[in-house]
Amino acid sequence: MNLDYIIPNNWSIIEEGFDPKHIKASESIFSIGNGAMGQRANFEEKYSGDTFQGSYIGGVYYPDKTRVGWWKNGYPEYFAKVLNAPNWIGINIIINNEELDLNKCKEVLHFKRELNMKEGWLSRSFIATLQNNIQIKVETKRFLSMDLDELGAIQYNITPLNSNANITYIPYIDSNIKNEDSNWDDQFWETYQTENNKNESFLLSKTLKTDFHVCTYMSSQIYLNAKRINKEPKINKEEKHISHSYSLSVNQRETISIHKYGGYTVNRNHKKEDLITIAKNNLNEAKKTGFSKLFENQKKAWSAIWETADIEIKGDIKAQQGIRFNIFQLNQTYTGKDAGLNIGPKGFTGEKYGGSTYWDTEAYCLPFYMATKNQKVAENLLTYRYNHLQKAIENAQKLGFKNGAALYPMVTMNGEECHNEWEITFEEIHRNGAIAFAIYNYHRYTNDYSYIPKKGLEVLIGIARFWHQRANFSKAKNQYVILGVTGPNEYENNVNNNWYTNYLAKWCIDYAIENINKIKEEYNTDYTRILNKTKLSNIEITKWKEVADNLYFPYSKELEIYLQQDGFLDKELTTVANLDKSERPINQKWSWDRILRSPYIKQADVLQGMYFFEDHFSNQQIKKHFDFYEPFTVHESSLSPCVHSILASKLNKKEQAYNFYLRTSRLDLDDYNHEVEEGLHITSMAGTWLSIVEGFGGMRIQNNQLSFATKIPEQWSSYSFKINFRNRVIQVLVNKEHTSFKLLKGASLSITNNNKLIELTPNNLISV
Ligand code: BGC
Repeated sequence: MNLDYIIPNNWSIIEEGFDPKHIKASESIFSIGNGAMGQRANFEEKYSGDTFQGSYIGGVYYPDKTRVGWWKNGYPEYFAKVLNAPNWIGINIIINNEELDLNKCKEVLHFKRELNMKEGWLSRSFIATLQNNIQIKVETKRFLSMDLDELGAIQYNITPLNSNANITYIPYIDSNIKNEDSNWDDQFWETYQTENNKNESFLLSKTLKTDFHVCTYMSSQIYLNAKRINKEPKINKEEKHISHSYSLSVNQRETISIHKYGGYTVNRNHKKEDLITIAKNNLNEAKKTGFSKLFENQKKAWSAIWETADIEIKGDIKAQQGIRFNIFQLNQTYTGKDAGLNIGPKGFTGEKYGGSTYWDTEAYCLPFYMATKNQKVAENLLTYRYNHLQKAIENAQKLGFKNGAALYPMVTMNGEECHNEWEITFEEIHRNGAIAFAIYNYHRYTNDYSYIPKKGLEVLIGIARFWHQRANFSKAKNQYVILGVTGPNEYENNVNNNWYTNYLAKWCIDYAIENINKIKEEYNTDYTRILNKTKLSNIEITKWKEVADNLYFPYSKELEIYLQQDGFLDKELTTVANLDKSERPINQKWSWDRILRSPYIKQADVLQGMYFFEDHFSNQQIKKHFDFYEPFTVHESSLSPCVHSILASKLNKKEQAYNFYLRTSRLDLDDYNHEVEEGLHITSMAGTWLSIVEGFGGMRIQNNQLSFATKIPEQWSSYSFKINFRNRVIQVLVNKEHTSFKLLKGASLSITNNNKLIELTPNNLISV
């Protein structure tokens, strides 16, 4: 679908005009979240048309039994599913005995939906004429509180326009819900208690198998012409559904309004016996504070986020809207308050990818959170994996590895692997490398080494052990090889010696050894503790080194190119330019075997490695590889264009860099991959941020120093961003004539731009 109905705007996503065809796409695009929970932009009132209902709670999942025809030993027991959680937003509306349903109205005029990214709220307004000829104006506002992350608030105003009307609001909570993707209509929730206390209601439900207990709650207040009226609701209580009914006679042109508060308390955060009590406290707090004050607080919370996270682009409103949309959604998905949570590829906007954690977090998201939030947030992301180390060791054991070798899962909710396509589960082992790389990246950026002796080294040891055992000696090659893998390019499976995987494997072992030596020298207590725990010996390290020093990398001398895998040059090397448009995307148009035999690359693979380890290669080498691989790349993963954009910027391919940038930044707003209805591509949004900051801004840490190499796309008149770097906030502004740097917070610092040294002192604007 072409989403050209989304109106360009600097700070908002706006849809005007009611079109049932857009409902599901808009439900994704206008999603809201606060890190702890999130929801698709479903209407509060009944909607009988085609819709995808979704409300999600961070960390609450269901282990769906995997059903595959051919069971393979080593498969995980289940596939994790993010659960559609009980609905607390519902408010049915009756106008003179007729239910409001936009799918059934005679006419819907002036429909407008706005997602205000600056202030963190979603609104809707329209004028509807019902079948009974009553015309009403509706204005709603909804947000999930960033401060009180178990709470959401809705304001729903109705004004009858052409006559007096009897208006009934029926706010409800409902746990009779299903997942879109449930097999055989499975129910994942069991509701075991309902409670009502005047106008407050509570549903206690638990998830089957995983035993997450959730209290879904609500309470409402009614206002007539903005004045509070005390009205007791009629309560209707069913097994999985509680509704309140408030009926009022409203004069023509008077405005009646309901303020509904609701949300979830979860036993991830509280004792299950306390869930209702805490929900009650939340409701009391909400009602005492009131919608307006909560709304003000929401604006303040978002203003604080934008303070460092914003990127301003002048002269290109679509690019501006795109980047803010990405930054906004990333902040709605993960706030970093809870080391038990992570960043699902679809965040809280859909069910696909099960809400689980992928290598996306380490490879793409970490730098964004590192530079736009305080350091603790990035550390929490690393700690998440540290806390799963034991499970990663057990996972490797199941596959026959020993002695504390760790294989992190490709997809996980709690540290266990929960994905079962053999070519991914068993073979896409490069994820282990990204997890080690994130530790390095964190230290490189923050200069905080303390994480490594505290926690990181144990992870590095587990990972090094895995690579050592996963490689085998090839007599024919007289080198170590890594056979039967899938690289980031999932359009080749079970290949031998994927260059990216081999390169990471060697690097991981070298990096683990480097840190073992450093910790031995400088952190003796930690060293002893880690040695005791891991039973690591010098003999073992020598064996790792033997593998790392003699690992094989497929290379073509003739082309001077590292090959994506041993057999890459055997393919018929026709480029993407030869593919007819009607055949794209190939993953929807071609059979799988045809894709596997083709030279087409789903996403950056060799180039992903050159991006990570840029300083291991000369510019000329990077250019050669870019020019070789880019023509075969179909970018059918949302994670691909950003890497190509960053490298194109580096190589001064400005137009290409800009085109890749646009593709990542408006991937969902323009629905490039024809799947926005299923949810947003949250993790690749971090890639968009990277395309600006590391791409056009050229930000790097080189020799422990912050450096830039700024460029500006033709289409922009200027752009600016801020980064949080080692207890400082630095603003970078780039326009056609110059780049300026300003140190907004923290102590003086030397940086470079295009290799020229710049001394930043507090609040001094330096233009170059
Ligand atoms: C990509 C993977 C990625 C996953 C989740 C897949 O399409 O190929 O690299 O981890 O999506 O974003």
